Amino acid sequence: MTDSAADVARWARAFQAEIAEHRDRLTELDAAIGDADHGTNMDRGMRAVVAKLDATPAGDDIGALLKTVGMTLVSTVGGASGPLYGTVFLRMATATAGRSELDGDGWAAALDAGVEGVQARGKAVLGDKTMVDALVPAAAAFRHAVESGATAGEAWHAAAVAARAGVKATVPMVARKGRASYLGERSAGHQDPGATSSYLLVHCGAEQLGGQAHSGAVRT
Ligand SMILES: Nc1ncnc2c1ncn2[C@@H]1O[C@H](COP(=O)(O)OP(=O)(O)OP(=O)(O)O)[C@@H](O)[C@H]1O
Ligand SMILES: [Mg+2]
Repeated sequence: MTDSAADVARWARAFQAEIAEHRDRLTELDAAIGDADHGTNMDRGMRAVVAKLDATPAGDDIGALLKTVGMTLVSTVGGASGPLYGTVFLRMATATAGRSELDGDGWAAALDAGVEGVQARGKAVLGDKTMVDALVPAAAAFRHAVESGATAGEAWHAAAVAARAGVKATVPMVARKGRASYLGERSAGHQDPGATSSYLLVHCGAEQLGGQAHSGAVRT
């Protein structure tokens, strides 16, 4: 089952709703090891994304849609996470330019491109206690699932499970990137806010993509 631009737009809208629901929790996580703005940053950005989607004629180019999401996040989120999330979506946009349907292989390529982009931009590696700790395992699990013959829906589910484990793994880590790194050892014992919002993005993918809307079923 492939996804269309309409499915991708539904994913973005679901992410906005999820961020709005978890805004205070994300801000609390950031209060512990940062500057208490991650929830409000992401909420502002995703509300702007949805407003932009509402105002933009729905086309069938998935790359164009992801580009709109990325550009809007870069210009409205600010902080460290705006350009980083923007990069994820802009790299996925480049990987899907001109495509009106995405299957498992298409999503695997797009996710790999997004993750490579955020690492190139932010220079974080696994274990630095950032969104990379959720996104890298998610993209790897997605690709592994597709290469093992899973459907795109099953791959999204595997990615969400891996992202959740990645978030939990950030708790004992000492931050080496971003504001939390200023705390040094004192950053240990807290869950990373950016990894948490990244998990929500992948979780929404597992609910909305890979044909979920058509077949019902797999939830994480
Ligand atoms: N270099 C990086 N690479 C990947 N992710 C990063 C990096 N630096 C920070 N992050 C992520 O960004 C999250 C914080 O995002 P937030 O929206 O709170 O921005 P911020 O750190 O407050 O930005 P600023 O300090 O510029 O105000 C962290 O939890 C972490 O996951
Ligand atoms: Mg912050």
